Amino acid sequence: MQGRHILLGVSGGIAAYKSADLVRRLIEQGAEVQVVMTHAAQQFVTATTFQALSGRAVRTELWDAAAEAAMGHIELARWAELVLIAPASADCLARLAQGLADDLLSTLCLASAAPLAVAPAMNHLMWSHPATQANVAVLARRGVQLLGPAVGDQACGENGPGRMLEPHEIVARVAQLLPVHGPLEGRRVLVTAGPTREGIDPVRFVSNRSSGKMGFAVAQAMHEAGAEVVLVTGPVCLDAPPGVSRIDVESCEQMHAAVQRELPGTAIFIGTAAVADYRPMCCAEQKIKKRSDTLTLDMMRTPDILAGVSARPAATRPFVVGFAAETQTVEQNAHDKLLAKNLDLIAANEVGHTKAFDTEENALLVLWRGGRAELPHASKLALARALTRIIIERYLACEAARAMPADPACAGVSAPAAGAASTSAGASTSTSTSASTSAPPPARGTLAASS
Ligand code: CTP
Repeated sequence: MQGRHILLGVSGGIAAYKSADLVRRLIEQGAEVQVVMTHAAQQFVTATTFQALSGRAVRTELWDAAAEAAMGHIELARWAELVLIAPASADCLARLAQGLADDLLSTLCLASAAPLAVAPAMNHLMWSHPATQANVAVLARRGVQLLGPAVGDQACGENGPGRMLEPHEIVARVAQLLPVHGPLEGRRVLVTAGPTREGIDPVRFVSNRSSGKMGFAVAQAMHEAGAEVVLVTGPVCLDAPPGVSRIDVESCEQMHAAVQRELPGTAIFIGTAAVADYRPMCCAEQKIKKRSDTLTLDMMRTPDILAGVSARPAATRPFVVGFAAETQTVEQNAHDKLLAKNLDLIAANEVGHTKAFDTEENALLVLWRGGRAELPHASKLALARALTRIIIERYLACEAARAMPADPACAGVSAPAAGAASTSAGASTSTSTSASTSAPPPARGTLAASS
């Protein structure tokens, strides 16, 4: 955290006393901490305490001519690499959800482009109240990172969820949330993950065995490479990697809508989701009763989200990466998908019979026009990192090609007709490009996955 700029907002709650320790720990890690207190916070701890610990004058007022002369609130908002509010009271969460800007802290939250993390602290009934939960849901949808709360004894003498996380736990999370400086810094990456569920009736659905693990690992690896990552996921039992914005969906239709909404400004789109190809023609309004020995479901095709993104006009088309889940002739099928969906790159894996879906490890065959790489068996995170290095290299090569005469290896640049690729299925030649990346170019044949 050496030299990183953290703006710590302290709102009104008894846990504010723990924030003094939090400041001390952040400073110990080398961070520069600017404390901003609400009026209510000053009822619990004095600004002098935070000033002594942070070595900076604490800011409390929006309309403070002297403080504004030193660093105006817009400058302060720009200075922050991360805005952390700890403790975040119920009132503070409500105000953030509303987008109010009538005091310094709320104004800074609106005016800063830095990621926002909140560590809620309040009485457990206040935390569980539908109003607070609705506010938290709004904030989570907006990409605000929730740190806690923990469950346990409360200052009011009761017990339940609402305790602020301990300062050392918050520091550990902050270290993961600070924006990463990497080759994809300033680039937005959109990832789909998990299965979709297509409703049959109010209690039944059609789905598949995808656990979402590969997609979540890809989202993490992309974040580690410095990208701003948005993860659109079907129903899975996984926590979003720290620093990644998560959007939960159920059906292909919802995933499609979320992707359309989030696509503007996206540099790289990665479709890892195991999207249902068919859905029931209609979802019965009431539970279907077992009135006969057999039941026939009429199904219809769902939109192909990946192909839709790939078909966008060049000006709004990101670099497009697909996954291929195959039970047989993996390379041939993956190669066909690369061409049919006009992708820039495809990662193929063999699925079924305890392979790939809902497992901890996997192996990938990566294909692009004119190149291939085999990523041997490894943990999904190690594979995702190795895949990320290849994606970055190919993406930067295609970016360079956009500015230069068309590179036949870039689908979005040259848009060759299906079948016009420079490599035939089964070819094992890898191309390497001169694009500079922090990763080594893919070698001929096998690329080792590293963790
Ligand atoms: N995909 C998608 N939308 C769909 C179906 C698939 O975005 N409705 C994407 C997946 O996320 C994956 C790629 O398309 O990146 C290939 O998915 P896969 O299931 O392997 O192949 P399909 O295109 O569905 O073809 P098939 O099932 O016939 O193999």
